[in-house]
Amino acid sequence: MSATARKTAPMPADIKARKGGVPLVSLTAYTTPMAQMMDAHCDFVLVGDSVGMVLHGLPSTLEVTMEMMILHGRAVARGLSRSMMVIDMPFGSYEQSSQQAFESAATLMRETGAGAVKLEGGQHMAPTIDFLVKRGIPVMAHIGLTPQSINTLGGYTVQGRGAQGDIMMEDARAVAAAGAFAVVLEKVPQGLADRITAEVEIPTIGIGASAGCDGQILVVDDMLGLFTAFKAKFVKRYAELGQTGEDAIASYAEEVRARRFPGPEHVFADAAPKGGTRA
Ligand code: KIV
Repeated sequence: MSATARKTAPMPADIKARKGGVPLVSLTAYTTPMAQMMDAHCDFVLVGDSVGMVLHGLPSTLEVTMEMMILHGRAVARGLSRSMMVIDMPFGSYEQSSQQAFESAATLMRETGAGAVKLEGGQHMAPTIDFLVKRGIPVMAHIGLTPQSINTLGGYTVQGRGAQGDIMMEDARAVAAAGAFAVVLEKVPQGLADRITAEVEIPTIGIGASAGCDGQILVVDDMLGLFTAFKAKFVKRYAELGQTGEDAIASYAEEVRARRFPGPEHVFADAAPKGGTRA
């Protein structure tokens, strides 16, 4: 490949083939500009149902709808040309039956152009994953802390400590055997995440898990400091854009009130200058 050749988006099989290699890089995105910003840096971008909390101010991901996922999925797709897009299946769109899951997954992929769907759940979702994969839908699984189940899990707590660890190992084995091409491990103790990574043949994508996972994912608004309602221990803030934005807005407000904005460079002369009407 020449140095100038455009990289094409990886397929789920390419992601799977990265098991044990250079760690996979991923972030969530919900809008075109964010997707454009990360396209050159991420192997895959997740249109996460975290969009409900991060962009819509909802209390959890449970209120997120298919319509919201499609709207944000289309926006993200417009910003990506190199990175694969994975889209979350929202709560209530896949749990009832494999047929329901197929219809929802096919709709999400058809309407947004996503290359794969992600769904939450381990052993109990394995038959659904198998059903989808056999019908042409690549599936990324998500185990550990599954935010769509916070009401039964009892909150955003670490999952898989003590005896729970064996169950989670079985969850990971089950989703891999069912044909998932990768599995997200959220808020899982480091040692368990490392054991799962060593045991299953598909890449593990950690979020609050271990640097030993085959890849990492973060919610982009968390790592940029744009979502500040709360900060999980596993989030590293690489920037404080929320504070930068608020400072900028405060400066704007001050300058408007003092009539320092707009300045002479931002206004238009009464007579159009030679050569155009834009200046
Ligand atoms: O919706 C989401 O943001 C997720 C995480 C794994 C990042 O599912």
